[in-house]
Amino acid sequence: MLVFNKNYQSIWPDESDPSVIRVIDQQKLPFFFETRELRSVEDVYGAIKDMTIRGAPLIGAAGAFGIYLATLEITSLTNVDQHLANAARYLISCRPTAVNLSWAVNYVLDRLKKDTFAPSLSSAALKAAMEICEMEKENCRQIGKHGLKLIEKISKRKKGKPVNILTHCNAGWLACVDYGTATSPVYFAHDKGIPVHVWVDETRPLNQGARLTAWELGQYGVPYTLIPDNTGGHLMQHGMVDIVIVGSDRTTRTGDVANKIGTYLKALAAYDNKIPFYSALPSTSIDFNIRNGLSEIPVEERDPGEVKTVTGFIDKKILSVRICPENATAVNYAFDVTPAKYITGLITEKGICRATEKDIKEMFSDKFK
Ligand code: MRU
Repeated sequence: MLVFNKNYQSIWPDESDPSVIRVIDQQKLPFFFETRELRSVEDVYGAIKDMTIRGAPLIGAAGAFGIYLATLEITSLTNVDQHLANAARYLISCRPTAVNLSWAVNYVLDRLKKDTFAPSLSSAALKAAMEICEMEKENCRQIGKHGLKLIEKISKRKKGKPVNILTHCNAGWLACVDYGTATSPVYFAHDKGIPVHVWVDETRPLNQGARLTAWELGQYGVPYTLIPDNTGGHLMQHGMVDIVIVGSDRTTRTGDVANKIGTYLKALAAYDNKIPFYSALPSTSIDFNIRNGLSEIPVEERDPGEVKTVTGFIDKKILSVRICPENATAVNYAFDVTPAKYITGLITEKGICRATEKDIKEMFSDKFK
């Protein structure tokens, strides 16, 4: 994606120093556009933990680069297998909900075992991490092309009036190396000259919608309106939403979707108002081993301090302020699970399918055991 006329991904290896992985600092956006260097497994863990980088495909790619950085820490005294296993366990423990993280870390470990012709362990790890970036970019591009058809259909029905898309959190290119999942069809539609307008949920407590999705769409010139999280239902009741498209951090083989907290309430409102509700996701976000999203997807619980504060920009500085009594009790579930029955369909790199085990199996037969 273009930022100030320069093409960026949300993660990449530094061109001049092979021991550095660079990321866009998402904590600072939209107030400052800065990149940050990751030089060790510890750095990758810290950046994922403190949300410098976030979003399911991106934390997967970061975990993969984390294993690459772990190979650079190997000396003649290192027990290599143990060292890499420890790094993998540590990275995977960082955030529990998005399945992309463990998938990507295990992908690199697996490639290290198989890529016996590589000149070194670290070159094999770097190659595998780069493969993941390319794979996720292509997945997201395909998601955009498939999702575009849904938007085109609505646009035709509305005789060219803007298609109103509601999205939650940031499932954009920042979260995905490039293109985005939920936003990819929007970018494709915009490029094709189809009038679109996005309702952007602010997404408390960390405001990924207000800070990141609004910034991304604005940079691309896509018209959007920022709304408080509790506005979507009202808009849907009044015919102001044509389609809801969200991302996913983990989807079961039966089509239950874990995504940013608040997604479930949007799905319920969409269902009640007969508005199509889609989750856009690469197959790397599908956990083919589990069936029941409510009982089997681990939901991350974050620091309640994030709920008790808001962070914003004043006097050229990013500052946090408390918004409740100092001793207020708060709880901070980062994700919720939308049962498959409320989901109209899944937009994947292979096409659009219903959120059922049968359809997912038909689409990804190679991944089903
Ligand atoms: O806590 P976050 O910001 O990592 O949560 C991100 C989301 O919930 C996204 O919707 C999800 O990762 C899909 S990203 C393409």
